[in-house]
Amino acid sequence: MSVQILHGDIAYSESPQALSIHENAYMAVEDGAVRGIWPQVPETYAALPVTDYGRGLIIPAFSDLHIHASQFLQRGVGMDCLLFDWLERYTFPQESNFRDPAYAEAVYGALVRELLRHGTFHASLFTTIHYDASDYLFWALEKYGMRAFVGKVNMDRNSPDFLRESTEESLRETERFVRNHAGNGRVQPILTPRFAPTCSEGLMKGLGEIAARYGCGIQTHLCESREEVTTALELYSSCGCDAEIYARAGLLDHGPSIFAHVIFPSPRDKELMHQAGSVAVHCPDATINITAGIMPAARLAEEGLSIALGTDVGGGHGMGIYRQAARAVQASKVKEFYEPENRCLTFPEAFYLATAGGGRCFGPVGTFKEGSRFDALVIQGVEDPGFPMAPAERLERFCYIGDDRNITARYIDGAKLNLFDGK
Ligand code: GUN
Ligand code: FE
Repeated sequence: MSVQILHGDIAYSESPQALSIHENAYMAVEDGAVRGIWPQVPETYAALPVTDYGRGLIIPAFSDLHIHASQFLQRGVGMDCLLFDWLERYTFPQESNFRDPAYAEAVYGALVRELLRHGTFHASLFTTIHYDASDYLFWALEKYGMRAFVGKVNMDRNSPDFLRESTEESLRETERFVRNHAGNGRVQPILTPRFAPTCSEGLMKGLGEIAARYGCGIQTHLCESREEVTTALELYSSCGCDAEIYARAGLLDHGPSIFAHVIFPSPRDKELMHQAGSVAVHCPDATINITAGIMPAARLAEEGLSIALGTDVGGGHGMGIYRQAARAVQASKVKEFYEPENRCLTFPEAFYLATAGGGRCFGPVGTFKEGSRFDALVIQGVEDPGFPMAPAERLERFCYIGDDRNITARYIDGAKLNLFDGK
């Protein structure tokens, strides 16, 4: 058995409300799993060397539950558009580049390294409609031991000719993708109808059959903007709400259902999500940039829905989930200001969403409770020299004004990651 002892200021979420802080503490990691945290090294480990991070904060790695790998190069461009214009003008032309596997290899390689750099070790990613490019991303994530869901995007209508599949082709290529990647690896395939406007009823039905055949989950955009909901329900006129489109196709029954945005859910949307145990992914930067509205996150959580955070790159412009934790608090305050029936999020709640809340989708990660896999980050250098701050203050400050330069060590499954070894 391999045992590591680490020393530092250890912080993780015990629950949505409770941040657990162990200042000046020692942690034992046995075979990649957290064994315990103590104020002194226990007798049994006394002879072992200690990896000492001093006043460094040791925290769980982040989970990004909604990111478009294919929009990596688009970050920070076209941010003055609303959703449909942004898709037409920027996103669809850019995504069509992924028909070239060499382009995909270069972009996805860079994206994966950037995720790791920013401390995101677990992610649910959209690619494009292209099989080979999607395949490349799958193996790039796997290579680094990341935990992830990867979805080849489906779209058979309402997109330009250069980024549209026939229904048959979409189903055939999706089934091939799911079949070739199914298994118990850390990276798993997930069905990814882009959103209702770009997917026909026949396509949704076929995807439901694939979900049942392979025991596969789904990710998509749900109740993303008022225009999206109106368009979706015009196209699916027999459905009473956005979630019903996926429920009727049998897409909520066979694996996780991960819904991005969920800004204007109806009571029926919420009921269906509740029944399916769906995750609602809050992407505050993106909903400010390209859509109109802010998820009522505190309310949805109080109503018992699972919430996580996403960057939604390139709708969102930044790679760090830590910044989305800060932005979730900011956005919730704006929402409370204009709609006082919504209460704002606390920082511990937002940090929970960034770590344990999203981590739950990937296994025992996102926390340091005993038995959790040690996917972790060390945060240093956020204090002003000569003006020490408490660990909880340093954590909050890192989320607001820190960046990847403050992440001075990274562990995946207990193994220290060397990002700069040219791999
Ligand atoms: N809705 C449909 N496609 C997209 C996309 O690529 N990004 C976002 N944020 N919303 C979408
Ligand atoms: Fe998105």
